Amino acid sequence: MTNTRSRITATSFGAMKKKGEKIVWLTAYDYYTARALDRAGVDGILVGDSVNMVLYGKNDTLSATMDMMLRHTEAVSRGARNALVIGDMPFGSYQSSDAEAVANACKFLSEAGAGGVKLEGGIEMAARIKRITECGIPVFGHIGLTPQSINKFGGYKVQGKTDAGKNYLLESAQALEEAGCFSIVLEAMKSDIAQEISKALTIPTIGIGAGINCDGQIMVVNDILGMNDDFVPKFVRQYLKQGELIQETAAKFAADVRGGKYPSESESYG
Ligand code: KIV
Repeated sequence: MTNTRSRITATSFGAMKKKGEKIVWLTAYDYYTARALDRAGVDGILVGDSVNMVLYGKNDTLSATMDMMLRHTEAVSRGARNALVIGDMPFGSYQSSDAEAVANACKFLSEAGAGGVKLEGGIEMAARIKRITECGIPVFGHIGLTPQSINKFGGYKVQGKTDAGKNYLLESAQALEEAGCFSIVLEAMKSDIAQEISKALTIPTIGIGAGINCDGQIMVVNDILGMNDDFVPKFVRQYLKQGELIQETAAKFAADVRGGKYPSESESYG
């Protein structure tokens, strides 16, 4: 089935929140996956720096580079006709100065066809986000368990468990809205905090491991497809066992080749 909706932009999401429409995001890293997600009618596609883990097999996102992110974002932009494509700014591409952050954010739009960028960080990153949005670049915020800060957190840990942690998240969400973010990812936090943030903000909150009361949800596409069964986080729902399916399919192909059953005459020329 082909999706015939018109192009979604960063400005579309505020109205969706007002109408109480749940917003659907998934990650993608390549052209065909983006095309399939777009045809399925997802609202937004994030080219996450999770690419470093789920496509390149790294243990964390920290070594993702601008070149890598731009290349994958460009492929996804080509596959998505309607969904908003957002490029994830990799670790080290926006932390050092406003000038470097703006220059790198611009590349996602001018070189990779994205409709905006995502970057991680709370109240401490608000001034930088304001500078980027002032340049006409839509910014998707990201607070909670921000994977680029795992060394600070001491691992992949649910955030907001103390009063101070909760206050930091509430203040950060407010600061990011004021800085001009069009939406904010809330990752791995207690559901009641995500609910409080979602009620307080006019921009939509998009949850991942943050409970049902966010304005929308985002998942890593490889997780819902069941590509990895080494470790499945509590919040992941696997709709497929793609890892097992690939293994079974490859085993069938191998058996056909080894048994002299592939290719048949109809699969051969002349
Ligand atoms: O990199 C990523 O895929 C993300 C999402 C999980 C929000 O940041």
